[in-house]
Amino acid sequence: MQNKIFDAENCVRTFGHGKKIVTAVDDVTFDIKDGEIVSLVGGSSCGKSVLAKMMLGLHKPTSGNFLYKGKPITDHKAHWREVQSVFQDPFSCFNQFFTIRSQLKAAFGIYKEKPSNAEMEERVDESLMAVNVKPSEIEGKYPFELSGGQMQRMLLARIFVLRPQVLIADEPTSMVDACVRANILDYLMKLKKELHMTIVFITHDIGLAYYVSDRLFIMHKGKIVEQGSPEEVTTKPKSEHTVQLLEDIPDVNREWIKKK
Ligand SMILES: Nc1ncnc2c1ncn2[C@@H]1O[C@H](COP(=O)(O)OP(=O)(O)OP(=O)(O)O)[C@@H](O)[C@H]1O
Ligand SMILES: [Mg+2]
Repeated sequence: MQNKIFDAENCVRTFGHGKKIVTAVDDVTFDIKDGEIVSLVGGSSCGKSVLAKMMLGLHKPTSGNFLYKGKPITDHKAHWREVQSVFQDPFSCFNQFFTIRSQLKAAFGIYKEKPSNAEMEERVDESLMAVNVKPSEIEGKYPFELSGGQMQRMLLARIFVLRPQVLIADEPTSMVDACVRANILDYLMKLKKELHMTIVFITHDIGLAYYVSDRLFIMHKGKIVEQGSPEEVTTKPKSEHTVQLLEDIPDVNREWIKKK
């Protein structure tokens, strides 16, 4: 049996007090196994990012148990060596005053022992090529000199540099056009295949989730209302919220379901 990476049992996360209390994650129970790509799919404010932050150790559950490899998350630095994220806004993740290349190299700072300088340079080049960017294209460039789509690829390049065991990808395709989106999704699958990475992919679009995932979790108002294989969930949806998401797939992305 595959090892469990995440194991959530009756997890609840609330914010605020009294009448103003918001239940962002409402009694979820699930596991995510080593090497799986699982998508969290649901509309705005349904609790996807809060759950993602729980996986990163940034939010603790208000009640219930949330385990990473069988234990609660206590040592954040150790956790982030293994679990990394790509978030919605790539510009907020890079410092505007340093070159892209220097920041990709700085990613090695997370390791206890850094590789040699030559090895770091080589790994940065490889990572850029993996996201279809020639190293010369970003040479001497700063984040503000790149487009949103290019920056999103830089975030993914940084993941390739870091090679975490687990990647939490929160809407990593939101700022890019269909062609670049295809590359990013294929690239996520490449990370899983080549580096045996476990990936949690977060999106509004069940069509994209269908294309990349081993399993889908459908979220609505903090709850996981349905979970299963992409085929099960899309051909025999059990929840009305899944049916709604299937109806909401943007026309440009319908082809994903046909393509698989
Ligand atoms: N730090 C916080 N303090 C208070 N409320 C929060 C906090 N973070 C999230 N929430 C609330 O929790 C709910 C779920 O938010 P979350 O960010 O998880 O939504 P989401 O599913 O990621 O939505 P989107 O698709 O728009 O990114 C929302 O009602 C949000 O306002
Ligand atoms: Mg979100």
